[in-house]
Amino acid sequence: MKDLPKAVFITGTDTGVGKTAVTAALAALLWEKGLVTGVIKPFQTGTELDGLSDAEFIYGFLGRECVLSEVSPFRLRAPLSPYRAAEIEGVKIPLEDIIGHTRDYISRNDVTLIEGAGGLGVPVTESYMMADLAVDLDAPVVVVARPGLGTLNHTALSLEYARQRGAEVLGVVINGFPEPADVASATNPAVLRDVFSVNILGVIPHFPGLDVEGGSSSGLSQAGESCFSPLFGGNFSADVFLEELSEGAGR
Ligand SMILES: Nc1ncnc2c1ncn2[C@@H]1O[C@H](COP(=O)(O)OP(=O)(O)OP(=O)(O)O)[C@@H](O)[C@H]1O
Ligand SMILES: [Mg+2]
Repeated sequence: MKDLPKAVFITGTDTGVGKTAVTAALAALLWEKGLVTGVIKPFQTGTELDGLSDAEFIYGFLGRECVLSEVSPFRLRAPLSPYRAAEIEGVKIPLEDIIGHTRDYISRNDVTLIEGAGGLGVPVTESYMMADLAVDLDAPVVVVARPGLGTLNHTALSLEYARQRGAEVLGVVINGFPEPADVASATNPAVLRDVFSVNILGVIPHFPGLDVEGGSSSGLSQAGESCFSPLFGGNFSADVFLEELSEGAGR
């Protein structure tokens, strides 16, 4: 954990890939390891939909109090990019204020997990993308990726976009890993490592009852030490995981 950055930007290859689920599980582990762990969602859209917002789900799961205006400082009704949702609502995104607020929040914790909206290429304004927010917050990126078919392309594009915008990438967390693994899920992790040279920082199983919007964290408390690499205080080893997958393929 000595190399753990002060702030980590949790992004995903897409919306709905499990950023909130992974952030919640990771925050729980970091608290367990004794770190005062902040979680913040600088831009939340889709508040007009029924269900919990991301910060509400995460703090509910952690069993910790939060002040919503502090951990979810800018909320928009439409389930769209912040850029478009703000335009529809007729508000101007106070970018500098939100960056300042988030920096201030980061400075008060041992470590802070910042959940982005959608993926790295989502516009906050016409010229400012989620990846730019990660850069401005000095927060290296963790990309949450799906396990199965399609994830190689999405992950490659996310990694390339991060590079282009100057965002440092810590690695990938594969979320919703199926048991038994289908052939794409069983072979993708080795491709991520061998072709894209990206660190696999964790693998979270598929928990059938998990429903972030519906407020069910069913199964998620099982995503502890065994799911995250030593960088985050866990004991997940990508080498062991890949070894087990290749043994499974040979059976
Ligand atoms: N490990 C998992 N096992 C089973 N279902 C999952 C898992 N992770 C996420 N899901 C399902 O996918 C849904 C979306 O997950 P989550 O809200 O974490 O995605 P997100 O990337 O944070 O989405 P957003 O872009 O809206 O912030 C969850 O409500 C849940 O139903
Ligand atoms: Mg989310």
